[in-house]
Amino acid sequence: MTAEKRWKVYVTRMVPGPGISILKEKADVEVSPGDLPVPREVLMEKVRDIDGLLCLLTDKIDKEVIAAAKKLSVIANYAVGHDNVDIEAATKRGIAVTNTPEVLTETTADLAWSLLMAVARRIVEADRFTRDGRYRAWSPTLLLGKDVHGKILGIVGAGRIGSAVAKRAAGFGMRILYYDTERKPEIEKETGARYSAFEDLLGESDFISVHLPLSGATRHMIGERELKMMKRSAILINTSRGPVVKESDLVRALADGTIAGAGLDVYEAEPALAKGLASLENAVLAPHIGSGSEATRSEMARLAAASIVDRLEGRVPENLVNREILG
Ligand code: DGY
Repeated sequence: MTAEKRWKVYVTRMVPGPGISILKEKADVEVSPGDLPVPREVLMEKVRDIDGLLCLLTDKIDKEVIAAAKKLSVIANYAVGHDNVDIEAATKRGIAVTNTPEVLTETTADLAWSLLMAVARRIVEADRFTRDGRYRAWSPTLLLGKDVHGKILGIVGAGRIGSAVAKRAAGFGMRILYYDTERKPEIEKETGARYSAFEDLLGESDFISVHLPLSGATRHMIGERELKMMKRSAILINTSRGPVVKESDLVRALADGTIAGAGLDVYEAEPALAKGLASLENAVLAPHIGSGSEATRSEMARLAAASIVDRLEGRVPENLVNREILG
């Protein structure tokens, strides 16, 4: 492409790191101002005339948005999950969809582990208690929590992030069970994890950490029935996608003692929380910050920008989700 005729790229939110400058070397780039999702009507308007789109998990890139795009050839989703993009519609139009796997694996596993520890040892409650000036004297019964070491961790979804969480658990001397649609020899070899039927995992685990992509098959995979199969002492961690867990059922289970606690980074209708969730002491809640370290969010931006440039310059992007477009 000549210097006069440059690509056009729209970025739906400012991202940290080198992503924007990588894009600006090759394209005219417009970044949506502010730190809120771009309004739908603005997105519909912007998408009309662009070659590349860098979007976030808060942007619904559905059939309608894709149909409005006249010359779009790449959608780079700034996330590993891509349930916000209609992949089928993009594929039909020959539009490449890319994501940002791997660079965020360890960071997200760190967050899952932080939530697990925080719930087990009641760190948020303890912090509030101390700040409030309620710590008067050491007590044998003060804020007693649950041991993590030596317990059983159930990993639901043994992909990259699930496996990284399992590695952390091995360091705590935990026994690890995992469930996935197929056996994963790697996780078994690296962590000694044992493959388990889903229901058995629910019944045997002390901690259950969910690492599933959102799809028709995984939506509400954990609801009242599954929560009732868990131990009353169990702690549920979800850093994947909110709708995998039926949040209203979880709120009930936490309130009536069906399970002991939960650590959540994702929500069914985020940023909204299910009624009653915010007032539960046995839940630790984070605002979808799984991949949120400075280094990882920069790397995600670099990767997303590089995918756009690759596609626009005729190369196959590293993290192409819909390889079918290659024919
Ligand atoms: C993802 O990548 O899917 C996370 O939810 C955000 O980083």
